[in-house]
Parts: sequence; C-alpha cells; structure tokens
Amino acid sequence: MGMTSKYIWMNGELVEFEKATVHFLTPALHYGIGVFEGIRCYATDDGPAVFRLEDHVNRLINSAKVLGFTNLLYSAEEIADAIKLTVAVNEFTECYIRPLIHLSGGGWNLNVDGGKADVGIAVWEWSNYLGADALQYGVRANIASFTRHHPNVMMTKAKICGNYANSFLAKTESLRLGFDEAILLDPQGYVAECTGENLFIVQNKKIYTPNLAPVLEGITRHSLIALAGDLGYEVTETLISRDQLYTADEVFVCGTAAECIALREIDFRVIGSGNMGPVTKELQQAFQLAIHGKHPRSAEWLDYVNVAESLPLRRAASA
Ligand SMILES: Cc1ncc(COP(=O)(O)O)c(C=O)c1O
Repeated sequence: MGMTSKYIWMNGELVEFEKATVHFLTPALHYGIGVFEGIRCYATDDGPAVFRLEDHVNRLINSAKVLGFTNLLYSAEEIADAIKLTVAVNEFTECYIRPLIHLSGGGWNLNVDGGKADVGIAVWEWSNYLGADALQYGVRANIASFTRHHPNVMMTKAKICGNYANSFLAKTESLRLGFDEAILLDPQGYVAECTGENLFIVQNKKIYTPNLAPVLEGITRHSLIALAGDLGYEVTETLISRDQLYTADEVFVCGTAAECIALREIDFRVIGSGNMGPVTKELQQAFQLAIHGKHPRSAEWLDYVNVAESLPLRRAASA
C-alpha cells in the first residue's frame, strides 16, 4: 500500500510529504493520546467528493472532547476546509483521509492539560482494505480471544488512538490464525463490532445490529441503516449472541475503510450459502451508488472538492 502524497497539512501549513515528521518525544507516540478520523473521498462525475465530511469532522471534535482536549486550535469548519484543501492540493480523485489531533508536547505527568494538541491531515490512495476480492466474495472472520473495551475503561464512542491497541491485538491474532477479520464480543459476551467495522446480521429478510452502547457509532453503519430503510427493510438494534452469527442467513460488516463486506465464514462455520447474500448485495450496491454520486442520498452525503479553487494554494505551497 503506497501512502505517499505531495503534502500533509500540519497546523495550517501544507508540508511536503518527506518533511511531515514529528519528534521522538511526542507524547502521543508514547501514550496513544490522540484522536483521529478515517474518511473517504470518491470520484464522481462532478469531481472528487468527500463522503459525510461534516459527520466525520463532528465525530473528530467529539472524540477530542471525550479524551479531554480543550481549546482546540481549529474549529470544525476550519478542519473541514483543510480536509478539502488537502485532497485538492494532492490532486487525488479518490483517496482515504486521515485527520489526527494529538498531544504534541508536555503531558509527561499523564495530564492532557499539560500539553498542546496539534492537528494534521494526511491523504493517500487506498482502495481494498480487506483485500481485492472482499467486495465480491466476502471474507472469513473469527471471534477474537480479546474482549471489546468496557465503555468505562476506554470510551468506545471516541476514535482515541490508544483504543486501537485492542483492535491491533484482535486483528493480528485473526490474521495469524488465517482469517481476514476479527469480531470482538463486549464485556457481557455479546457481539460488539470488528476491529474497524460495525456488524449486521440478516435473518428472514430482517436486519439486526448490536446497539450502540459498546461500539463506535459508525458513519457507514448509519448510512446503511438509512439505505436499508429506503429499500423497505426493518433494522433492529439488539443484543446479538455468538451463536446467532453462526445461524444467520447473512452477516455483513461495514466501515469507511472496508465499505460493505459480507462475512462468508465465521469460526469455520459457513454463513448462509457461503457467498454474499442478497440483502448484503442490495445494500452494497446502494452504498456504492451513494458514494459515487449516483443515488438520491448522494446530494445529502457528498461534499464536493473544488480542485480549481486550490490552484493558487498549490502554487504557493510548491514555491
Ligand atoms: C472500531 C470501529 N468500529 C466501527 C468502525 C466503522 O466506522 P465508520 O463507518 O464511521 O468508518 C470503525 C472505523 O472507523 C472502527 O474503527
């Protein structure tokens, strides 16, 4: 995966990719004290468009609030503008977008108030997070031996950098065991989410998903619930047990990086027919249309990037 680009936005400056570095003693590196977002920009007939930009930026600001950052250097509007600028100056028609707010100094007495929160935005070309065939054939998953965070241990509504040690443990275990993705159970033993995706099951044409208590409030999850409603499906938030996964007609997962992907096998049990099921397929297709500007929902969800407007800035940055 190539993660290169021309510029990374750092505290208001467009910094050349090679020069966008941080010091070894950055506290975020030692303690995971930062919050981030994963956003995507898609190619459309009207140019690059960022999917649900405002919702992602609001979640970023809320994550910062949950972690305890105060007096952020930039407002939500400024961060949203900076995101569009970073996409434009890098001249990508499609890319993944990674804003990060992190403790950049101080904080060695384990106090977020002791330091300053820097803001950066990187973009790169990233297409198939769960592999090239995942979209069409689905992937194989296991139940992780690790439990998802208890919400009063690591708050799951926030995308806090340190939270992802839990995802790293589960995902590494999953890949080493020969699976593609891990499903984590909540502290009560019910299905929570995957390492970077929310999860749904389909039973008798009805769709179920874990309630939001122990999981990240996924923006793709929210989008798929809306699309499912448009298509006439009933979606219920409920407790889901491990064995309900095994016997479901379909299981699918969703996230900004993964998009909408079927789970065709879990813990060596074939799910449904062993292929992507019809409901998953219908939702995946609707989602693909929406992100590419070809669905009635697109107008509400896409934020178009004005590449021409960024031309003077591009010139200034490269001068
Ligand atoms: C733990 C976790 N759950 C769910 C998701 C899906 O969220 P979204 O659809 O907003 O990307 C993500 C990805 O950000 C995640 O990291």
